[in-house]
Amino acid sequence: MRTYTMKMGVLALMLAALPGLRAQEKATVTLHANQGKDTISKHIYGQFAEHLGTCIYGGLWVGEDSDIPNTRGYRNDVLGALKELDIPNLRWPGGCFADEYHWMDGIGPRDQRPRMVNNNWGGTVEDNSFGTHEFLDLCELLGCEPYVSGNVGSGTVEEMAKWVAYMTAEDGPMAKLRKQNGREKPWKVKYFGVGNESWGCGGSMRPEFYADLFRRYSTYCRDYSGNRLFKIASGASDYDYNWTEVLMKNGGGNMNGLSLHYYTVMDWNEKGSATRFNDDDYYRTLGKCLEIEQVIQRHIAIMDKYDPERKVALMVDEWGTWWDQEPGTIPGHLFQQNTLRDAMVAALTLNVFHKYTGRIQMANIAQIANVLQSMILTKDDKMVLTPTYHVFHMYKVHQDAVCIPLDIRCERRVVRDDRIVPTLSATASRDGEGVVHISLANIDLEHTCDVDIDLGDVTGKSVTGTILTAAGIADHNSFEQPDVVKPEAFGGARLAKGMLKVSLPAKSIVTLSIR
Ligand code: AHR
Repeated sequence: MRTYTMKMGVLALMLAALPGLRAQEKATVTLHANQGKDTISKHIYGQFAEHLGTCIYGGLWVGEDSDIPNTRGYRNDVLGALKELDIPNLRWPGGCFADEYHWMDGIGPRDQRPRMVNNNWGGTVEDNSFGTHEFLDLCELLGCEPYVSGNVGSGTVEEMAKWVAYMTAEDGPMAKLRKQNGREKPWKVKYFGVGNESWGCGGSMRPEFYADLFRRYSTYCRDYSGNRLFKIASGASDYDYNWTEVLMKNGGGNMNGLSLHYYTVMDWNEKGSATRFNDDDYYRTLGKCLEIEQVIQRHIAIMDKYDPERKVALMVDEWGTWWDQEPGTIPGHLFQQNTLRDAMVAALTLNVFHKYTGRIQMANIAQIANVLQSMILTKDDKMVLTPTYHVFHMYKVHQDAVCIPLDIRCERRVVRDDRIVPTLSATASRDGEGVVHISLANIDLEHTCDVDIDLGDVTGKSVTGTILTAAGIADHNSFEQPDVVKPEAFGGARLAKGMLKVSLPAKSIVTLSIR
């Protein structure tokens, strides 16, 4: 096995420069299709839209009077692109914004809605033109389930209770108000977050105090008119296992889900550039990305202790990369570019989520447009799809498919911070039509990886594939060059006597379909 330390990494780079010494990587994957029992919840492919920078305003919503082509105020180009992703759910209005949001400011005639300052995100003035109706109508247009985050940090129990009634009750004073505002029938709202990051921007609380507040607030979030809420408690950030422990112990019986947030940031004071990084930075980021598996395992072990029947779901409702914002953009708006490195983070993280799908019932990448690890970037009337978008598109075949357990044998390297990064990451699933999909990522920046996949009892006559790669790991799509990183047909896989032989180019992500 080849292992790298920092010094050996330099040596390897030197060796790689000598053409005669370049080697192919080799790896094997063994599928255990007969052991597959858990369905990969489509909600793992959830999205997140916060009132932050140009995520909502400019990214999703331009208003009916805009020159940018729109449908009732939503950008047509963005709507079209998002529909292609089969988005299962959309979380809104935050994030940190949720705990300063007062929903009544965002209903009624738009020109009469009060303005507010978005204290969390650059002090931008928020005109509340995108509110409850605009959000829930967007979910209907996208065909996804809404995930609404309620305000515990600065809101009252009454305010939260009334919001639930406004959205979901057939009758009563809140239903009457909704009808006056133009919506006769209640919406169906299943996913409801009771606070966000209550240990930080959501109120700086101790877990014991928040656990009691969760019990109290969630008591008054009622089920109206056949709507059944799935109540989600504000959970831990990455390594805060005590938060999970206390919530599982004291959170009470109203908790259907407990959240977890995990970003790949290693130093909050120096997050690093999205587009200017070296190979060492790349491997280091992937080490941090893959560490989410250990973090998930430890949170799940605590949940298993209190909830062995797995009634409470783990919801990773914020995850992804978080780089320095792009130079020249508005401070606090978290606008960042998105390279093939981000695509790799997306693929590897989704592969991990698939493995824990018995407990992980939802995940929401942060965020859908123009903020952090976005699907889409917009500038005025221009839109560009990011490499991360393309991963979500290639991976949508895994939504609601049965996860196929697999073993991987491949080389590993020790990266900075002593984390381990393998050459290969993989996941597989079988969909409702019996088609088996295998997604593979060759993490290595220089070498092709020849993968032998033992299909076990998976049979198929043909294999087709799609590949996402680029000349450089920092390659990205810009408004001037929108197609630098885009999926192509992949012809590097062949079936032979129960085996699938795949030649995976360096730094590539491939999804194969076996029929
Ligand atoms: O996604 C950006 C911010 O990150 C969210 O508002 C907050 O919940 C988290 O800290």
